[in-house]
Amino acid sequence: MTNNKPKILVLFYSMYGHVFALANEIVKGVEEAGGIAVLKQVAELIPEANWDDNIRNAKELMKNIPVADPKTDLEGIDGIIVGTPTRFGNMSAQMRNFWDRTSSTWLAGGLVGKPASVFVSTATQHGGQETTIITTLVTLLHHGMVCVGLPYSYQEQMRIDEITGGSPYGASTIAGGMGERMPSVNELKLARDLGRHHTGIAGKLMGKV
Ligand SMILES: Cc1cc2nc3c(=O)[nH]c(=O)nc-3n(C[C@H](O)[C@H](O)[C@H](O)COP(=O)(O)O)c2cc1C
Repeated sequence: MTNNKPKILVLFYSMYGHVFALANEIVKGVEEAGGIAVLKQVAELIPEANWDDNIRNAKELMKNIPVADPKTDLEGIDGIIVGTPTRFGNMSAQMRNFWDRTSSTWLAGGLVGKPASVFVSTATQHGGQETTIITTLVTLLHHGMVCVGLPYSYQEQMRIDEITGGSPYGASTIAGGMGERMPSVNELKLARDLGRHHTGIAGKLMGKV
């Protein structure tokens, strides 16, 4: 908590930039709701020698985003919004690696009672948007966090006139099999909504847990 404003960690991994694009909107939503957004990426595990041009281009865009330290970056936050591309319906190994290094926070109950939200990218419409969010929330529930989704009151998730991410579980985008589709206007709006909604709940929980 800083000056009574909720401090929200927006923690993401992105290989080709889709999750990063959602993360930037979430940051705006957090700030619009009066929160302090801290944007961090988790450490890459793929050796640079193995990056293709698409990865290299995305990494260039993200080069100024600090890499989160699992020992220190979970301290003093009032909420966390976690973003990951799907890997076979689950979070990426890079994001898993971060959480597997958080046992000292877990032992201390450092995140108990704080809100947690998730946002994702999949290649295809049914490639695991919901499973990735829900299985990521399992880890956050083990930390004692309070799950915050995206209520149906954010009605853009119900559109059927175009393909769109966004669900009661959280924000999302569909990247296409070759990563050729970037988040749509609708998906970016829902990501921003998630940031705002999450921050409002973090503010309500502050001092009461
Ligand atoms: C090992 C691997 C497994 C993947 N598994 C899935 C999957 O189960 N379903 C799917 O729709 N996309 C899958 N993808 C595609 C990624 O989710 C896609 O590249 C990602 O959403 C793009 O987000 P980013 O640009 O932020 O990295 C997989 C990609 C890799 C490399």
